[in-house]
Amino acid sequence: MLGGMECLPELVETPRLTLRLWAPKDAPALHAAVVTSVEHLRPWIPWIANEPLTIADREALITEFRHAWLDGGDAVYGAFARGGEDDGEVVGGTGLHRRIGAGGLEIGYWVHVDHVGQGYATELALALTGAGLAVPGVHRIEIHHDQANVVSGRVPKRLGYTFVGATDRERVAPAESGVTWTWRMTAADWVRRAVTGQR
Ligand SMILES: CC(C)(COP(=O)(O)OP(=O)(O)OC[C@H]1O[C@@H](n2cnc3c(N)ncnc32)[C@H](O)[C@@H]1OP(=O)(O)O)[C@@H](O)C(=O)NCCC(=O)NCCS
Repeated sequence: MLGGMECLPELVETPRLTLRLWAPKDAPALHAAVVTSVEHLRPWIPWIANEPLTIADREALITEFRHAWLDGGDAVYGAFARGGEDDGEVVGGTGLHRRIGAGGLEIGYWVHVDHVGQGYATELALALTGAGLAVPGVHRIEIHHDQANVVSGRVPKRLGYTFVGATDRERVAPAESGVTWTWRMTAADWVRRAVTGQR
């Protein structure tokens, strides 16, 4: 465990998705999703710069993710369709990341190009906000995105996150402006949101 921190959740379910840690057996499906979506992801996702990867590379990465998770580090999830015709298909990827300091988790997400515009990013971020705030010691969840990534920014806004501010940062993906917007949901705001019935 990382500094005695406990493991982040292994599995989170939403109405339409199962979010679970990528497993080595998912490497071919992850590969297919990334290959199909590569030009959709390239503008905003820094790790696309490493493409093309092989299936074996992806399996090795998944193994690294799992080791890090077991040590109390980040949780990197596949988002899989639940039920219906697409059952088990890769809808995207997401994660809870410990990179924002003690007491906080950052949510990251990407959605397969064939599944965008159906509310999946909003749905998975809602579920991960609740799951993250249920982790002992975690009292704030953040979503960060480049100012130019307007679609990504609609997710925290829709979920009732508070805009915290804009910070200059090195550009790490081709379409970025270099200004990061930070949104935050505190545990107190989450409870308030539940009490006032916002959905
Ligand atoms: C950003 C991304 C994850 C959004 O995924 P998604 O599942 O399509 O998002 P949702 O369907 O939940 O929609 C979120 C909001 O964006 C809007 N939206 C979705 N696709 C859109 C599009 N192509 N153009 C304009 N608005 C769009 C939705 O209407 C919704 O806004 P609303 O809540 O005000 O109605 C997806 O576009 C993606 O994978 N982008 C590339 C990777 C990326 O940018 N990741 C985030 C890095 S910070």
